[in-house]
Amino acid sequence: MPIQPTEKIWMNGEFVDWDQAQVHVLTHSLHYGTGVFEGIRAYETSDGPAIFRLTDHIRRLFDSAKIVGFEIPYTVDELIDATKQTVAASGLPSCYIRPLAYLGYGEMGLNTLPCSVDVAIACWPWGAYLGDDAVQQGVRMKISSWTRHDHNTMPPAAKTTGNYVNSSLAKVEALNAGYDEAIMLAPNGLIAECTGENIFVARQGTLLTPPISAGALEGITQNSVHVIAQDLGFEVKVDNIARSDLYIAEEAFVCGTAAEVSSINSVDDRSIPCPGPMTLAIAEVFHRAIRRQEDRYKDWCETL
Ligand SMILES: Cc1ncc(COP(=O)(O)O)c(C=O)c1O
Repeated sequence: MPIQPTEKIWMNGEFVDWDQAQVHVLTHSLHYGTGVFEGIRAYETSDGPAIFRLTDHIRRLFDSAKIVGFEIPYTVDELIDATKQTVAASGLPSCYIRPLAYLGYGEMGLNTLPCSVDVAIACWPWGAYLGDDAVQQGVRMKISSWTRHDHNTMPPAAKTTGNYVNSSLAKVEALNAGYDEAIMLAPNGLIAECTGENIFVARQGTLLTPPISAGALEGITQNSVHVIAQDLGFEVKVDNIARSDLYIAEEAFVCGTAAEVSSINSVDDRSIPCPGPMTLAIAEVFHRAIRRQEDRYKDWCETL
């Protein structure tokens, strides 16, 4: 779906017109994949747009930069404020938000130490990533032939732009083969996550989700779902999952900022009961929580 432009983009402390938010072709991160980014959503609430777990997302942006080894020239609070201003400037009741910190124009070569760090924050309207009816219908998953990064190759815990070449390879392979999304295995063959989502699988009544050590991003939706599931009385474990656990799962779903909670209806053409009862219950509470309609999770929704 093409990006729907809004009016302004925040760049290095100032708002610039959407069409003027440009970089030089010799921008360092464009060549070496060294940018770090976040994907965040703001939802319409009775108190105006509320940004779901904004503080946690901005903290993760700083963690990603720390892992890559550069310093963002703002504080967490300054970027929280800038993100809120960007959403307010758009006038949108709900939107997807993309903060990006990248090494800018002026240096070239693999030594990143002398590079300047630029920051941009954009937002625009963006619907359900895996389809409007992904909870009920479910998505068709394929185990990718592409392996998730090893921790000592490209740290999977950092949302670096370069890491997503791996995700794009897997996504396009899955789409070309007629599936909706790919599941990535870690170098040791265990399930890591999907190209842009974490995964939960039910086995013997327990929901399992892979740990960071398996190569998963520490998902903010994954954490929210974990809390919601436990509050609903379900047993949840962060634990390793084997490929065969997926094939015989009682139910399974993916979750992430873009995809929210989406059921899995099959993996490698082995059907999985869909939508599962735990998935449905979690998706329903999550749907209300992100819109500030659940008192116990109101702190997750950060109003402007
Ligand atoms: C590779 C990957 N895994 C998991 C997630 C889910 O993370 P979150 O729930 O914080 O959006 C994302 C999305 O950011 C992702 O890109």
